[in-house]
Amino acid sequence: MTGGASFIGSHLVEALIARGADVSVIDDLSSGRLQNLEGVTGRYKFHQLDLEYSGIEDITSAFEGSEVLFHLAAIHGGRGYIDAHPADVCSNLAIDHHVYEAARRADVSQVVFASSACVYPPALQAQEGSNYLLREEDCDPRKLGEPLSADLEYGWAKVFGEIQLLAFIRQYGMKGCSVRFITAYGPRENETHAIIALIYKAVRRMDPYPIWGNGRQDRDFTYVTDIVEGTVRAAERITDGSGINLGNGRRYTMIEVANTIFDLVGWRPSEIFFDTSKPTGAVSRALDIRRAREVLGWEPKVSFRDGLESTIDWYLTTHNGSTPTDERILLERA
Ligand SMILES: NC(=O)c1ccc[n+]([C@@H]2O[C@H](COP(=O)([O-])OP(=O)(O)OC[C@H]3O[C@@H](n4cnc5c(N)ncnc54)[C@H](O)[C@@H]3O)[C@@H](O)[C@H]2O)c1
Repeated sequence: MTGGASFIGSHLVEALIARGADVSVIDDLSSGRLQNLEGVTGRYKFHQLDLEYSGIEDITSAFEGSEVLFHLAAIHGGRGYIDAHPADVCSNLAIDHHVYEAARRADVSQVVFASSACVYPPALQAQEGSNYLLREEDCDPRKLGEPLSADLEYGWAKVFGEIQLLAFIRQYGMKGCSVRFITAYGPRENETHAIIALIYKAVRRMDPYPIWGNGRQDRDFTYVTDIVEGTVRAAERITDGSGINLGNGRRYTMIEVANTIFDLVGWRPSEIFFDTSKPTGAVSRALDIRRAREVLGWEPKVSFRDGLESTIDWYLTTHNGSTPTDERILLERA
């Protein structure tokens, strides 16, 4: 697995090991952490390798002997991070190309690409209070003669990640699929992502409590263990390079998220400050998950409140008041 030391990757590594798989992790540890994998220490192989600049032979040899490759490595972070690092994010185009080329050379049977809801046209997500659910066909990377539109350089790189995977499938008979995650959250995520940022601010008792934008922007939040289960099922069942949505199909505004966090931490600020100078991304974004239900027999299991509760428990146990109160933590991956 590439990016196996990441937030989502580390949960996927644990799930695969629990199923009896032999797992190799390839990661340069630029944002991933080996501490994320301490629950499975000694039970996976580790290659510290930069997938952007290492030679193709080294990457190929790290993949050799693997049947399935989960490709999660990416330059990635929350909205503030991807907005402030457009050039860095473009590295993903090179990373994805190297990964597919090495997978082909190493005769990997199946490649699973971690894609994103950012592949969808921003125009479909611009209406406050919308109830539109984004469908897989709203971004069809097989229709290269038709218009595509995506969210920032990060979203375009994910579209190209899907296009490249389809190209390798078409030209070399490789197999694979693209799993489109949406606002994953859970233990081990960093403060550049909305949920952890909002927990951080509540734990630090920030008052006025800052929320980026007008707070009415909404997202379809998906708990990490649900993402992992859907990804494993997609690896087992989709081989033609198709993309599949993994989400909940439910939306929560940032104000609703903050209020649930206040309930769970037992604290409420006297004032909320809506910081409209900060980037917020799409106004309203949620996924249609009918295809995942039909093709994967998958259903997200963790309710939003339960997922938030587990995430807050993890945050309080691991951060222990030691995280500095510093705005940079919301923009830069610590
Ligand atoms: N977290 C989300 O909400 C979300 C949503 C949609 C898609 N995704 C995608 O899922 C994947 C995992 O996301 P995450 O949130 O766990 O992110 P993350 O930032 O924790 O993980 C990225 C991983 O890639 C590694 N990496 C980066 N550049 C590398 C390079 N040049 N060579 C080798 N390794 C490199 C990092 O060290 C890290 O372990 C990413 O591809 C991301 O784009 C995540």
